[in-house]
Amino acid sequence: MIEIKNVSKSYVKNKKSVDSLNLEIKNGEIFGFLGPNGAGKTTTIRMITGILDPDEGYILIDGHSIKEEPLEAKKNFGFVPDNPDMFLKLKGIEYLNFLAEVYKVPVEERQNRIEELTKKFEIYDDLNSYIESYSHGMRQKIVICGALLSNPKNWILDEPMTGLDPKASFDLKEMMREHTKKGNTVFFSTHVLDVAEKLCDRVGIINKGKLVFVGTLEEMKEKFKEQGSLEELFLEITEE
Ligand SMILES: Nc1ncnc2c1ncn2[C@@H]1O[C@H](COP(=O)(O)OP(=O)(O)OP(=O)(O)O)[C@@H](O)[C@H]1O
Ligand SMILES: [Mg+2]
Repeated sequence: MIEIKNVSKSYVKNKKSVDSLNLEIKNGEIFGFLGPNGAGKTTTIRMITGILDPDEGYILIDGHSIKEEPLEAKKNFGFVPDNPDMFLKLKGIEYLNFLAEVYKVPVEERQNRIEELTKKFEIYDDLNSYIESYSHGMRQKIVICGALLSNPKNWILDEPMTGLDPKASFDLKEMMREHTKKGNTVFFSTHVLDVAEKLCDRVGIINKGKLVFVGTLEEMKEKFKEQGSLEELFLEITEE
């Protein structure tokens, strides 16, 4: 469960990139975070994950404040950032073993978990190559494998489908469904409205830092009294 309470963030004076945001992502829920470029999605995700401090408000992960109890909070989520270009000088296997170490995945589980995840995403045979030799999609896949290695209850994913081939994208969506069926939480941002429509229990739409809608797609259609597609609704909600 992720609770975002009255959170604001400015990078520059007099311009709030996130403005008084309140959101609650419940256990068992896939929540899609939508909004145009520059709306504040990544800024929100960076605050949830403790990379950025909010100017105001607070964030709890399974009841633990990311600011006051960062270690407890961080044990409870796996994070896929919007850019997978990191640890390029490590081999895939070194990266995953490093994360297993950081997240204290028991040694006897590591091998199985790494094998299971990397075979699923078809990068098992590449684990002895350096990440800098990976394609964009392969980097995305290894970052996802790393984030899920410790089997965290909350998944926080910033545009996770970007660069994934259709099979990997399909598999990830299935994994999100399975994960939330067990009572866990998935929070992800996306520009792919089709994915949001088919996958999410609820969506939030942010525009210029402000949450302009939160609820199910049925509620969105009801609220805006439109029979149109999600794309048309999205454009209407986020237009100037
Ligand atoms: N490091 C930074 N310094 C200054 N301004 C920033 C910085 N990062 C983001 N911003 C500004 O904050 C606002 C929100 O950006 P953010 O990256 O959160 O958007 P986003 O919704 O993730 O967009 P996208 O869909 O393009 O990924 C934008 O106006 C952006 O210019
Ligand atoms: Mg972003």
